[in-house]
Amino acid sequence: MDYKNKTILITGASSGIGRELAIVLADFGNNIVVTARRENLLQDLKREIEDKGSKCLFFAGDATDPKHADLVVRETTKTFGKIDIAILNVGVGPASNTIKDSREVILGKMRTNYDTLINFFVPVIAQMKSQTTPCMIAHLNSLATYFGIPMQGDYTAAKAAGRIFLDTARMELKHFGFKHVRIQTIHPGFVATEAVKDDGIPAPNEISEKEAVKYILNGLRREVHENRFPFSTALAVRIGRLVPTWLRTKILLSEAAADY
Ligand SMILES: NC(=O)c1ccc[n+]([C@@H]2O[C@H](COP(=O)([O-])OP(=O)(O)OC[C@H]3O[C@@H](n4cnc5c(N)ncnc54)[C@H](OP(=O)(O)O)[C@@H]3O)[C@@H](O)[C@H]2O)c1
Repeated sequence: MDYKNKTILITGASSGIGRELAIVLADFGNNIVVTARRENLLQDLKREIEDKGSKCLFFAGDATDPKHADLVVRETTKTFGKIDIAILNVGVGPASNTIKDSREVILGKMRTNYDTLINFFVPVIAQMKSQTTPCMIAHLNSLATYFGIPMQGDYTAAKAAGRIFLDTARMELKHFGFKHVRIQTIHPGFVATEAVKDDGIPAPNEISEKEAVKYILNGLRREVHENRFPFSTALAVRIGRLVPTWLRTKILLSEAAADY
């Protein structure tokens, strides 16, 4: 999918991968709509986007609130008439412990990583079904979506739920004849963003935000269903899915911190 002169919504764009994506996409004469809770960061981002010649709207709000998502989609289409690409990027995965954490912490991770996806998916898909030109929903998932991983149990579960939901949405779009709507899940390995700097989770083959954005843009262009990167981590995960559970457990536990 081409990303020039398009209307592009990016959720969770005040920092990290979402922010870097917005800045790079601003080079291509797009209408860029960005969301997050930290309004001051979105204001700075809007200035940077406009300095590069793209248009920008920002909406400060909490993506766990469905009303926020409805408003963003409504106002975006009122201003720009359509949404060509929606990059649903909100998500966090600080270190966790399935056998110590409270219900609130575990379910909170589901709200931030899964509910935020669904809150935007529902109004975006309704809008895109009404459009006629090619358009795409791309979800920032993770390579940590295929099996449980120590220190990331709640996060991996939420990302797995998102992946399976979108797999089904892709089938149903085809079944019901909405061939112009593409669904992509983006599966980065470890990316060196501020959010994960001191999280204590081992991060082999970590790549920079800039590298991650290059992979993401390449995936959007090629319209792959699942964009997994970098190759080394994607290959390790693929092998991890094939080996017996006892061996995968042994390898993953050998990487986990002694206490957390
Ligand atoms: N970094 C990695 O290693 C890595 C690897 C694989 C996948 N990912 C995925 O990539 C995405 C971006 O991660 P990142 O590392 O760039 O993290 P980040 O810098 O913390 O970005 C997360 C963004 O989401 C926003 N956000 C969080 N909770 C929100 C809420 N309730 N409502 C609205 N906005 C919210 C944050 O903004 P506010 O705080 O201002 O709201 C921020 O803009 C996530 O989905 C993550 O799971 C990251």
